Amino acid sequence: MKSQVRVSLFGVALLACVSTSALAQGQPWLDRSKTPEQRAAAAVSAMTLEEKLGLVMGYTDPEKLANEPDDVVSPAIKADVIAHHIKGSAGYIAGIPRLGIPAQWQTDASIGVRVAGMERTALPSSLATAASFDPKITEAGGEMIATEARASGFNVFLAGGGNLAREPRNGRNFEYTGEDPVLTGDMTGGLIRGIQSKHMVSTMKHWAVNDQESQRTTVDVKITKQAMRQSDLLAFELVYDTSSPGSVMCAYNLVNADWACENDYLQNQVLKQDWGFKGYIMSDWGAVHSAAKAAVNGLDQFTGYPCCGHHGAFFSEKSLKAEIAAGALPMSRIDDMAERILWALFAKGVVDDPVKVGPIDFKASADVAQTAAEASLVLLKNDGNLLPLKATSIAMIGGHADKGVLSGGGSSGVTPIGGSAVKGVAPTTWPGPVVYQPSSPVKALTAATTAKISYVSGEDIAEAVALAKRSEVAIVFVTQFMGEGIDNPLELDGNQDALVAAVARANPKTIVVVESGGAILMPWLKGVPAVLEAFYPGVRGGEAIANILTGKVNPSGHLPITFPASNDQLAHAEIPGFHKPDGIPVSITYDEGAAIGYKWYDLKGYTPLFAFGHGLSYTSFEVADLKPAISGKGLTVRFSVKNTGKLKGATAAQVYVGADKTAGWEAPKRLGAFSKVELAPGASQAVEVSVDPRILATYDEATDSWVIKAGSYRVMLGLSSDNLSQATSITLPESRWSAAHGK
Ligand code: BGC
Repeated sequence: MKSQVRVSLFGVALLACVSTSALAQGQPWLDRSKTPEQRAAAAVSAMTLEEKLGLVMGYTDPEKLANEPDDVVSPAIKADVIAHHIKGSAGYIAGIPRLGIPAQWQTDASIGVRVAGMERTALPSSLATAASFDPKITEAGGEMIATEARASGFNVFLAGGGNLAREPRNGRNFEYTGEDPVLTGDMTGGLIRGIQSKHMVSTMKHWAVNDQESQRTTVDVKITKQAMRQSDLLAFELVYDTSSPGSVMCAYNLVNADWACENDYLQNQVLKQDWGFKGYIMSDWGAVHSAAKAAVNGLDQFTGYPCCGHHGAFFSEKSLKAEIAAGALPMSRIDDMAERILWALFAKGVVDDPVKVGPIDFKASADVAQTAAEASLVLLKNDGNLLPLKATSIAMIGGHADKGVLSGGGSSGVTPIGGSAVKGVAPTTWPGPVVYQPSSPVKALTAATTAKISYVSGEDIAEAVALAKRSEVAIVFVTQFMGEGIDNPLELDGNQDALVAAVARANPKTIVVVESGGAILMPWLKGVPAVLEAFYPGVRGGEAIANILTGKVNPSGHLPITFPASNDQLAHAEIPGFHKPDGIPVSITYDEGAAIGYKWYDLKGYTPLFAFGHGLSYTSFEVADLKPAISGKGLTVRFSVKNTGKLKGATAAQVYVGADKTAGWEAPKRLGAFSKVELAPGASQAVEVSVDPRILATYDEATDSWVIKAGSYRVMLGLSSDNLSQATSITLPESRWSAAHGK
């Protein structure tokens, strides 16, 4: 203990010396008593034009960079990237050593450190952790992955997926946190807060309306400003409010005919002007299409060059200097770009707390991932209380459950220690190779119960049926691989639906465990008494599944997305460019507007397979005493939750608000707030939540304001969007306020 104290005092003395000598050399930006704004402005005023231009261009893949012409990427830059880029990582931006500005080392993504050749810890998918309905879970996850990232040499995390699951077949839904702005605000916000608490910059991505992967670099998304503000942009706005990301990553797609990374409306008007964003917008890899236009319209950093096909190095020294000379790009904008990047590095602690490569406590990391999985898995169906397991003989079938659990593919895929537990599963190339985290449900269940357990792969349906017949209970594992760049049908592939149906016919005590990126169709549901949605459950997914199946852990996850009953219920029958080669210019009109997920189902009167917010427990809960009150422009809602069953457990109590047609909402009801509550049997708890005024309002484009119409609003309380046992009304006065809250 004593020596630790000595070390830290020595550290303080050393920092004091550095800071004093830095100040003595006239480097006030290293003075921690100044604000990040003052520090960034002071640093920029000391920088040469070349240094500023160096900050706004980021690189990946040194080998490809070596082939770029020297007048576009100078030999000095190439040499620096070759020397300092972390092999296999997403990107690198040189520092400015003479000014004490560190390099930026960028790593993907939201569930852990993703670097080719680096073995690191994977959280459950972001959609899974959203199902915990508990921002403490995503925050703890963010802290864990940032700890690993820093120990691996990174100080910028390309995490923070905040796109809404508007399109249930979107191949990246597993990287996002569901279909509702309030849920996304809290859950992605928690992740970013956790990451940035470790003195890293996190992004919030992909800005914006990047809701399909088919033709993701060429699709032009048509949507009204009002619909955007009340859906996709609102989700990001709430993430921004709760987490203050240092960076925002603009998306590949076009929005209303302008590329997202050169979209004045999205970048300048909404993010920077209305919300007062002080950090920097970095491009997605290969998402830049111009120099002056992109810069003037708000892009601050062109990252990931060279990547993703042929495009110019638009933010290179050469092209930016040419644009400045031509008068197309003001110097003040270059200063602003550099200042925004530096603001983030100062504000998030990247400059003051340099990263140091060091050892990683993988056991501690895996514990965090397991806690997250156990809080997130969703028990969808449990007829006759088949679960928790009581059987003495169990047939386990399919899904490579003898080896591990599935992960999603693309730039968020984390390589586990020892590599994938299953090799050679298609697709073996991008967005594969398919990775199975080495956490076998069969091994975990064998360790957790005394039952006799047998496993078959499920490839041979007759063999699976025979095993199911001679076992007391059958558990079938089904998988749906989703990956970046490809959208997915909702039907399970291969023989999986036939396998489940056949096993369920052979053994009425059949449980299905689903490892999926998002929603799937379940044509066999009627014949199956129990279903557990495990999403991609991460590095300890097998243990989490076993603990829930045996009842060691009481399930408490709730669906962050709606599960459609059929494809006929989707807002868009077809995704333009679905399963066609990339690069076809297509467009899609989001005429459902802000009516995403359960809002669409309510509007249309559709009954889904499973509703948003649904999730069962081995105990039972009751909500009561609903009391909303006006608080500022929004609401405070008080209520109580009681555990009426026999076991300890947790549930997500959900408050929805409703309005009649005259309010002009996109749908009859909206999630206003939620709270995860854990209770002993018989115990009850008083809860208070706030409903943000934007959730009661509509966006008025003409005046750039939010407007709440005077009138009566419904407040509803329950344990899922289709089970709202309490309801009351409240009369709200008219209010109107500027959407420019950052000013
Ligand atoms: C993805 C981003 C990712 C980037 C860097 C892109 O393809 O869309 O989410 O951060 O690559 O790997």
